[in-house]
Amino acid sequence: MIMIFHTTVRSYSMIQKPHLAAWRAWRRLKLRLHSSFVGASSGPGPVDRSEDPSAASAEKSPHTPVMLKEVLQYLDIKPAQVVLDMTFGGGGHTKAILSTVPEVTVLALDRDPTAISLAQQLAKEHIGRVKPILGRFSELEDLLSNLNVKPGSIDAALLDAGCSSMQMDEAERGFSLSKDGPLDMRMDGDRYPDMPCAADVVNTLDQQALASILTAYGEERHARKIASAIVETRRISPITRTQQLASVVAGSFPAAVIYARKDRLNRPAHVATKTFQALRIFVNDELNELHAGLRVARTFLKPGGRLCVITFHSLEDRLVKRFLRGDDLSNLDHFSPRKKSARNEKPVHEKRDGNMYWLPLRRKVITPEKDDVRENPRGRSSKLRAALRR
Ligand SMILES: C[S@@+](CC[C@H](N)C(=O)[O-])C[C@H]1O[C@@H](n2cnc3c(N)ncnc32)[C@H](O)[C@@H]1O
Repeated sequence: MIMIFHTTVRSYSMIQKPHLAAWRAWRRLKLRLHSSFVGASSGPGPVDRSEDPSAASAEKSPHTPVMLKEVLQYLDIKPAQVVLDMTFGGGGHTKAILSTVPEVTVLALDRDPTAISLAQQLAKEHIGRVKPILGRFSELEDLLSNLNVKPGSIDAALLDAGCSSMQMDEAERGFSLSKDGPLDMRMDGDRYPDMPCAADVVNTLDQQALASILTAYGEERHARKIASAIVETRRISPITRTQQLASVVAGSFPAAVIYARKDRLNRPAHVATKTFQALRIFVNDELNELHAGLRVARTFLKPGGRLCVITFHSLEDRLVKRFLRGDDLSNLDHFSPRKKSARNEKPVHEKRDGNMYWLPLRRKVITPEKDDVRENPRGRSSKLRAALRR
């Protein structure tokens, strides 16, 4: 019991303490940005991708769906059911659902207008069966209500967290460490042009706040060293490009260790990988968003409805695991700007088998098969959790 308590406290404080500092810094940053940029980010600025014909083709599969077979198995969708795909992305999971289950309706959410243009294309090919919804998890409750979708009415929901290949592969979006582009990383910068981008964060926050972000969201052991290198560099000139940031991070390590870290396929990983992850999570507020998304799934799934959640790093998986276990996560709340809904959460009463909201469909986390990882290395660190709404 004591051990469990200590583990919980240790891992919570790992998330929360740096978050507190980071959120204070974030609020200061936002105020500064609002006053100095009059509603415009110092980043590359909004690009309207909704009109981009290359983005609107539903023919090609711009993103290989992760653990497709497992998702279909655990969602176990029946004909004419209503499914909520909370992360449409390139539409890989939705397309598979549409082609395997007759007369199903998919509510297809994404915060990225590029993904929604693909969903709109798909909606034209499957009349009445795909309903594209542009927005964030944190906006979804209102968006569903506007569509007259009632709480407790959805049969299955999928949340495939993180970034799509479309986002990663387009240098101009600034997610990629290997392609040079503006240091942006916003998933919906088009919709919220005054939202600070990664360049705003690295050029404006103080060293301590930067180190906190790298520790909290990248689990980067060398956070202080990297933060100090960033601050030193920007004294001379601002860091505005992805490759520039990658070299600043690399420059704070001896040359021999730049590729000394290994990924889960034992391939060399650049030392800036965790820094990029941390900035992306921070810029897009991904953990609070994930928590909001899980709460929406809990509200809108009907009893017996199924939820699949795919995550790509341990911070996300830990949050999902605890949520499905019934832990009260409302104390994630105090670093969140969206306090209202989390405070209203009711305490959860444990049941012997799961909790009052969820019955796990498999106790252990599901990981991709070796063949799938070989075919789609980007899915190598994915983890799937599946549960039934009580
Ligand atoms: C891994 S991709 C999904 C890929 C998709 N399952 C497929 O098969 O193509 C994740 C998608 O979720 C979207 N996303 C991430 N966070 C979100 C949020 N808070 N609200 C809505 N969409 C989000 C991203 O824009 C991205 O398109």
